[in-house]
Amino acid sequence: MSLFNVYPLYEMTPSHAEMCYVFDKKGNKYLDLYGGHAVISIGHSHPAYVNSLTKQLNNIGFYSNYIINDLQKKVAEKIILQSGCKNYSLFMTNSGAEANENALQVASFHTNKSRIIAFKNSFHGRSNAALSITDNSNIKSKMNDKIDVSFINFNDKDAFDKEIKKGDVSSVIFESIQGVGGLDEPETEFVKHVSNQCKKNSVCLIADEVQSGFGRTGDFFAFQKHDIDPDIICMAKGMGNGFPVGGILIKDNIKAKFGMLGTTFGGNHLACTAVLSVLETIENEKLMENSKNLENYFRKTISKISSVSKIKGRGLMLGIEFNFPAAELRKKLIFKHKIFTGGSANKNLLRILPPLNINKSHVDKLYNALNVELQ
Ligand SMILES: Cc1ncc(COP(=O)(O)O)c(C=O)c1O
Repeated sequence: MSLFNVYPLYEMTPSHAEMCYVFDKKGNKYLDLYGGHAVISIGHSHPAYVNSLTKQLNNIGFYSNYIINDLQKKVAEKIILQSGCKNYSLFMTNSGAEANENALQVASFHTNKSRIIAFKNSFHGRSNAALSITDNSNIKSKMNDKIDVSFINFNDKDAFDKEIKKGDVSSVIFESIQGVGGLDEPETEFVKHVSNQCKKNSVCLIADEVQSGFGRTGDFFAFQKHDIDPDIICMAKGMGNGFPVGGILIKDNIKAKFGMLGTTFGGNHLACTAVLSVLETIENEKLMENSKNLENYFRKTISKISSVSKIKGRGLMLGIEFNFPAAELRKKLIFKHKIFTGGSANKNLLRILPPLNINKSHVDKLYNALNVELQ
């Protein structure tokens, strides 16, 4: 039997990985500036992470959510402590799409309404409601048209006000930095306006931090730059450093009810252990600070290349924009220079989403490779 052919694959098969390096079966060593799509936060096979997961697997790997799992409470407490987001409770999922799906569901239960405001160029995942709020017709089926969604542009206050005033909106969902879309961000004034209008109109504000959360931008969550307190915060990717796990933080004014949400695998013992290990490592190795410092060095270094038209994003969620399509360059970086980077909906942009513990020498390696190809 063959695989269902949905991924255009690069010819490379990894054999193992170590911190910010991936090795292939031919013995090549690649610098990972993509983190498997922003997933590898503390480094591939980080020793503390491997240790914790191995120990946990030897104790108990899984049991269902119908008995107490004290690790989930620890995860909740540690996220609250490290993020500084007080008065939230946690529900754990297995992926980013599932986090968003549950967030929209909670908002609809809470408001007893159903319409959603989402943003153009967004990406929120591949489940039904997540696809409904994703602005890419190429990946949507007829089924995803059944949910009532209005798409507006970032920073368009008039369009936003017009939609929210109709009175039938359940939630507004946004990415503080659009990941797949190409690293665009709304302005603080607009985000604050959206937040205030949501409060005034009893609409839930949902921050999709699936890609930008867990320290990637130098803040624990990217929305924190705007000094707002969303009703629901969605997390995944960097949360488990490769272990499939996600979650939503739900503000305490939204009341839980037995049976409202549920999952078989979400928040299992192994998943919780992965998250705890990620959180401890982010703290112990000061990875949020590293993320901020490396952004400064990255901007200073990479902007020296004359064909770079713009550097977008924050912390270690960055995009290098050129005034030509970047696909060929990305291929050369992989196969000639042995550096992984990412693409996006913006064809002129290379995405940089490395493990949060890279150092200046790794940025220099990218600079040297770009220099060879572009100068
Ligand atoms: C902002 C955002 N939300 C949601 C998702 C979906 O996450 P997952 O692929 O874990 O379902 C992604 C994935 O790229 C994302 O970038």
